[in-house]
Amino acid sequence: MKNILVIGGAGYIGSHTVKMLAQKGYNPVVFDNLSKGHREAVANYPFELGDLGDKARLAEVFKKHQIDAVMHFAAFIEVGESVKEPSKYYHNNVAKVLNLLDAMVEHGIKYFVFSSTAATFGEPVKEKIDETHPQNPINPYGNTKLMVEKMLADFDTAYGLKATALRYFNASGADDSGDIGESHTPETHLIPIVLQAAAGKRPCIKMFGNDYPTPDGTCIRDYVHVNDLARAHILALEKMFKDNVSERFNLGSGNGFSVAELVKEAKRITGVDFKVEVAPRRAGDPAVLVADSAKAQKVLGWKPEYNLTRIIETAWNWEQHRKF
Ligand code: UFG
Repeated sequence: MKNILVIGGAGYIGSHTVKMLAQKGYNPVVFDNLSKGHREAVANYPFELGDLGDKARLAEVFKKHQIDAVMHFAAFIEVGESVKEPSKYYHNNVAKVLNLLDAMVEHGIKYFVFSSTAATFGEPVKEKIDETHPQNPINPYGNTKLMVEKMLADFDTAYGLKATALRYFNASGADDSGDIGESHTPETHLIPIVLQAAAGKRPCIKMFGNDYPTPDGTCIRDYVHVNDLARAHILALEKMFKDNVSERFNLGSGNGFSVAELVKEAKRITGVDFKVEVAPRRAGDPAVLVADSAKAQKVLGWKPEYNLTRIIETAWNWEQHRKF
């Protein structure tokens, strides 16, 4: 049974991956500083409180659990905030990851799955973004993730550390059980905000810009279910164990939905006609981001199983019964 250290495992995508790792016969060990994560999200799994900046703590955990591979979910993820506070992003998303990679090399841990992002591509130069698309981030968040991708390539060449970078598009939805789901403070993501408006927990939702060069003027995104992402992590891990290669994959559904379309679908599913206001554009937002995930489908055999309706339904179930 392989021991997988899941850094940031108490967070949104981390906790769904921890659950799936356990279901698939791995032994996940959660490492989290709980600055954003929720202890309740991983109550049933081995848990180590710690910060990535603390090398001694990492060394202790690596030895105690005989770690075979590491997954990293412990990044700050808000595009808007990264524009205002880049230093915070470079420290947490780059410097601390370098610390982690050094510790992995020192302890001979060879396999790493890294949560990267569509934000590493910047403004798309073609309709769907595949792995050959140029990477020119337009915000500090995307810069931090791209820097780590570059570090990973160099660490493979020099130290033989094998890494898979998974560029998520818009992670969304919740586990079908309703036991875990998205819970950020403050919440900045569209789907939870929309559903909180539907639940009467917010007076309205603000649509950030309706003058983008898209058919209805609102931004288009590719929403991909958190459990589809979790499954991709496990497939990526298995591929690395089997073939001992570094890889990178873009993970999305391949379907783009505008903010206005998503709001319409959320109103249909919830049956609530919540209030929508048009607000100015948010800094750092590209007009359209849609994935071409053919490579992940071909190489990993990965195919998203949840469509937008299921994503909103599972998120709505979570929003109505959330425990944290
Ligand atoms: N939006 C609104 N109103 C809101 C919140 C969001 O109109 O209250 C809009 C945004 O402007 C954007 C879209 O809804 O056009 C989606 O916004 P999110 O904040 O939900 O997601 P982002 O696309 O900004 O970012 C997410 C992740 C990033 C990742 C990116 C890649 O948070 O980490 O997807 O596509 F980089």
